[in-house]
Amino acid sequence: MSTSAERDAHEPQNGIPLCIPAIQGNEWQYLKACLDTGWVSSVGAFVDRFEQNLADYVGATYAVATTSGTAALHVALQVAGVATDDEVLVSTLTFIAPVNAIRYLGAWPVFIDAEPDYWQMDVQRIEDFLTQSCQWRDGALYNRTTGRRVRAILPVHILGHPVDMNPISDLAARFALPIIEDATESLGANYRGRKVGTMGTLGCFSFNGNKLITTGGGGMVVTDDEALARRVRYLTTQAKDDAVEFIHGEVGYNYRLTNIQAALGCAQLEQIEQYITAKRHIAARYAEALGKVAGITCMREASWATSVYWMYTIMVDPLQYGMDSRALLRQLGQVGIQTRPLWQPIHRSPAYAGIAAPTCDVAEQLNRDGLSLPCSVNLTDAEQQRVIRLVTASQRHGDR
Ligand SMILES: Cc1ncc(COP(=O)(O)O)c(C=O)c1O
Repeated sequence: MSTSAERDAHEPQNGIPLCIPAIQGNEWQYLKACLDTGWVSSVGAFVDRFEQNLADYVGATYAVATTSGTAALHVALQVAGVATDDEVLVSTLTFIAPVNAIRYLGAWPVFIDAEPDYWQMDVQRIEDFLTQSCQWRDGALYNRTTGRRVRAILPVHILGHPVDMNPISDLAARFALPIIEDATESLGANYRGRKVGTMGTLGCFSFNGNKLITTGGGGMVVTDDEALARRVRYLTTQAKDDAVEFIHGEVGYNYRLTNIQAALGCAQLEQIEQYITAKRHIAARYAEALGKVAGITCMREASWATSVYWMYTIMVDPLQYGMDSRALLRQLGQVGIQTRPLWQPIHRSPAYAGIAAPTCDVAEQLNRDGLSLPCSVNLTDAEQQRVIRLVTASQRHGDR
C-alpha cells in the first residue's frame, strides 16, 4: 500500500507558495481614488493618512513613510548619529538589509548571536560585549579590539516574534546608546503590552510583498522624538530647504513612499487584525500537528510576547527526523510546496568576509536546521493539512 506522502507526490495538485499577500479589502477603491486625484507621487493625502494610521496602530507619536524598509533603516541609523567607522551591534541571524544599512553609512556591524528559545538577538551576548570588550574614553564608548566607537544597538525582531527588549533598553541606557529597532518582520507583535518598533529611539517597518501588510514596496520610520522625525522627513525628501529655489542643506535621499503605494497601505492596514488572527491560527495548527513529530521543533512564543508568526518556521533535526532541512525542502518542492531555509548568518556572508565575528553557534544551527513553511494569510485548511501530512509522513526514524 502506498504511503500518503507517495500518494501526494503522484496526485496533480496546485502548488502552495510560502507567503503571498492578501489583497481583499479596499485596495482597488483607494487606488482608484488616488489615481483620480492625480496625486500619484510622494506627496498626497494617502501618504499622510498611512503615516497617521500606522503611528496610531503601533502607538508612536510620529511616522515617516519611506520607499522601503532598507531605506527606513538607513536613514534611522543616520539620524540616530551613526557615522563612518562607528560600530553598531546587530543580530547576525537576519535578512541582510539592516547590516547593509549600517555599511551604507560607512559603519561596521558587531554581530550578536541568536538565543536558543525564541531565536532572537541574545541579550546576554550584548551585555558580554558591552561589559567585556568595550571601554569609555572622553565620554564615548569604544571597542577595545578595533578602537572604533560603539554607537548604537540594532535588534531585529525576526519571524514575527519580539526580541526581549527590557534588558536591551537597560543596557542602552547604561551605555548611552540609541536603539534602532528593525521591526520589519514583526509589525503588530506585542512585547509586554507594547508594539514592537516603539521601544527604541526609532523603529523601522517594511511593506515589501512578503510582509504582513504590503504596499508592493515601502517602509516606515516611527519615533516619539519630534526633532528626529523632522530630520527623517527632511533627509528622505532630498534635504530640501527651499522647494522653489532648489536649495538643499545636506546630501539627502529620494526615499519617500508614493501616494499610490500609501493608498494600498491604508487598505492593508485596515485588515491587519484579521491577518494576525489568521497567522496565529496557522501557527497553532502547525504546532499542534508537527509538535508531535520526532525531530521537529516548532517555533515558540515567549510568555511576555504575542507573536504575529509572520513566517512559520520549524527546526529539523536530521538524526531524529531522518532527513535534513534541505532534503525536506527539496522533497516538498517536488510536489509544489514552497519552503525556505533561514538566512545564512550575516557573519558567514561573503558580503561581510573579513569582519571578525564571535562564535554564533545558535544562529548557525538555526541556519542549518530551520525551515519556514507555507503560511500565507489565505492558506486554506486543506493546503495546510497537505503540508502537515507530507512533513509528518516524511519522518523516517524514531517515534511518531
Ligand atoms: C529583517 C529585515 N530587515 C529589513 C528588511 C528590508 O525591508 P525592504 O525589503 O522593505 O527594504 C527586511 C525584508 O525585506 C527584513 O526581513
